[in-house]
Amino acid sequence: MEQNTAGLKEALGKTAVDRLVKSGMKLGLGTGSTAVFAVRRVGELMADGTLKDISAFATSFQTEIECERLRIPFYTLNSRELAAGLDLTIDGADEVDPQNRLIKGGGGALLIEKLAAYASSDYAIIVDTSKLVENLGYGFPVPVEVVPAGRVQVTKALEKLGANVILREAVRKAGPVITEHGNIILDICFKTDVISNRIDPSFMETELNQIPGVVENGFFTRRPPVVFAARSMGEIDERRC
Ligand code: A5P
Repeated sequence: MEQNTAGLKEALGKTAVDRLVKSGMKLGLGTGSTAVFAVRRVGELMADGTLKDISAFATSFQTEIECERLRIPFYTLNSRELAAGLDLTIDGADEVDPQNRLIKGGGGALLIEKLAAYASSDYAIIVDTSKLVENLGYGFPVPVEVVPAGRVQVTKALEKLGANVILREAVRKAGPVITEHGNIILDICFKTDVISNRIDPSFMETELNQIPGVVENGFFTRRPPVVFAARSMGEIDERRC
């Protein structure tokens, strides 16, 4: 089962890279257990000479380390190489709705993933079909990255919006997860009364960021990607909205 899941993720990474990545591209590379297979495919195609002159942007330490290992040159978005923006970003997601709007940030990298997504001319998401949902925010909690000093005030403001708020706890470290930018993550689930009035993800993406102390949230609604969704090995649908 584990192996099957890894196989699906590998097929997704390979398909997206083979269909979309061209030599000379400025390429955003996402984070997580699916996106890593896209990174590996880029590394493979660079090593055999199929892809040349790739300038990458890594969305997390995980991705930077993978790029280092695979000798994929990566730069900051402030660098001369990438300041004009990215041609394409490939990433995973936690939920995808029928309009290809997303929840991301299960791996805590939402801040830089959103920076990459919104700085890209093209955007591609790779997921297995279990991530396709009718409505965002009903199943997977929406991550909200918050400055540590704002923990209590932001929690209160989120509760006022009708959310249940859970401070994300670290694993093998006491206390909360501290992001790569020194912040904490509040995972929010909407209460049934909010859900029955429907959550509008596009509205929520803007609304959550209005709360002082919020750095970014995991709704990605303004840059609809092409979505590659794997049903099973060899069955990958490409969906554009
Ligand atoms: C990282 O913060 C996330 O946005 C990931 O892209 C997302 O959680 C999907 O991760 P998996 O591919 O590991 O499920």
